Amino acid sequence: MREAPTIVVFTGAGISQESGIPTFRDEEGRGLWERFRPEELATPEAFAAHPEVVWRWYRWRFEKVRAASPNAGHLAIASWQARFPTLLVVTQNVDRLHQRAGSRDVVELHGDLWTARCDRCGREVEMTAAIDMPGEPPRCGCGGRYRPNVVWFGETLPYAAFERAHRAAAGCDLLLVVGTSARVYPAAGLIEVAAAAGSAIVEVNRDETPLSPLATRTFRGAAGAVLPRLADELERWLSRS
Ligand code: OAD
Repeated sequence: MREAPTIVVFTGAGISQESGIPTFRDEEGRGLWERFRPEELATPEAFAAHPEVVWRWYRWRFEKVRAASPNAGHLAIASWQARFPTLLVVTQNVDRLHQRAGSRDVVELHGDLWTARCDRCGREVEMTAAIDMPGEPPRCGCGGRYRPNVVWFGETLPYAAFERAHRAAAGCDLLLVVGTSARVYPAAGLIEVAAAAGSAIVEVNRDETPLSPLATRTFRGAAGAVLPRLADELERWLSRS
């Protein structure tokens, strides 16, 4: 980090785990996809077949997200903004915890659970309002149904977000990869893009991932413990030099 002018932080569900938000998959079988089948909940086909089940599941997830607060990992990343003004956070998370921790430049690759959008006209409403509307899911004035504003399996990522993330990964000096199982593409491919372009890759994860071999340096542990330590070390070094 001392030698890297351009830093991209790439995060997944693991960084929010210590805020009480369940991850999707992990080595101990506690992830959401160990308990629910993605194709039954996180696909356009599932929403068409069982809109009320999908809506209720996302409402449950939203309530968890709403009750959660950023943890020491999110706060450490936000604290680096002052040191590295061009630092970009690219996240697969839909919980807005980076923004709530104070990170200003955040690319959301998989959408945002704090909004819902009409599946017909595209109108967006705040999730806080949508969950109080009648209907599971509620209806839009145009007759369509509100759905969570997230990316489902089989859907494409928001173009502008992915394009910016791709450009940033291809041009950074350091990619700090935190709490992602690196299994879901195209997001995970950003790690390969950065590695191929010669960037240093630092991985912070409790467990090994398929892309761990690309890492220049690996910290095995909880993001909420490792990131504040990295921040402390960096501060110590910077105050000495
Ligand atoms: P996963 O749940 O697949 O992976 C979480 C990773 O974080 C695993 O490698 C865990 O070992 C690790 N982990 C868990 N707790 C941790 C902690 N406290 N500190 C550090 N690491 C920890 O989450 P993602 O990689 O984000 O997509 O999943 C990618 C996408 O799959 C999600 O965005 C979601 C899902 O399907 C969509 O919904 C489109």
